[in-house]
Amino acid sequence: MTATIIDGKAFAGRIRAQVAQHVARIKSDHGVTPGLAVVLVGEDPASQVYVRSKGKQTGEAGMASFEHRLDAGTAQEDLLALVAQLNADPAVHGILVQLPLPDHIETDAVLAAIDPAKDVDGFHVSNVGLLATGQKAMVPCTPLGCLMMLRDHLGDLSGREAVVIGRSNIVGKPMAQLLLGDSCTVTVAHSRTRDLPEVVRRAEIVVAAVGRPEMVKGDWIAPGATVIDVGINRVAGEGDKTRLVGDVEFTAAAQVAGAITPVPGGVGPMTIACLLANTVTACCRIHG
Ligand code: GUN
Repeated sequence: MTATIIDGKAFAGRIRAQVAQHVARIKSDHGVTPGLAVVLVGEDPASQVYVRSKGKQTGEAGMASFEHRLDAGTAQEDLLALVAQLNADPAVHGILVQLPLPDHIETDAVLAAIDPAKDVDGFHVSNVGLLATGQKAMVPCTPLGCLMMLRDHLGDLSGREAVVIGRSNIVGKPMAQLLLGDSCTVTVAHSRTRDLPEVVRRAEIVVAAVGRPEMVKGDWIAPGATVIDVGINRVAGEGDKTRLVGDVEFTAAAQVAGAITPVPGGVGPMTIACLLANTVTACCRIHG
């Protein structure tokens, strides 16, 4: 069997086109331009790439983009003061503080300072709690993008066996909540899970979010399973080049899976598209 490749790039393009239409309508009907503020502290190269891409796509969707680049030594109180300023700014509807933050800054304190109504990452405990209790929440962008691809490919997810590998606050935990919300039977596996291959073998849906290159082997995948690969890992390629690989051994997994997302071109583009969609949602909620 050879898996269907789930084209996240094309799907994300369709979402961005819908977002752009929605933005145009908000502008013409309400005279409001949805605005997203992105805060980057320090010079982490991967974060810089993401932030540049976010800024570009926000502009292309007709939204206002505000970028705040602070140096790595920025004091926590200065970062909190910036967040307070963005909370109060009526031109800003969404606030994203890029993670990871430098070690001297308490991430939880910064996330707690963001107005939950502008928390387009869905990382504030108030949004985490709303999601966990099945209420209307801002939903973290990466798991939201994964859920959209799963629904698009499989239709109703009710009753399906899903295994999420990874228990991060950014992906693993909210992914599990979303799958539970769609009535899947959910297992969250992690670094202490005993016999991970056997756990993964029972899954009809596998979401891999561990951040370890090609850790999930092709022979762990059940025939016909749908595999969503959240990993974006840079590894040595030919000569002095590097290449991107996911958390799943793609070529081997694609021999048995029913469908699989590629890296790049799978989950990555969906994350930014969902961020734009969340910003429009935040703008609509703020402006009633
Ligand atoms: N770092 C890696 N992924 C994310 C994300 O989705 N949001 C933020 N704020 N930082 C990240």
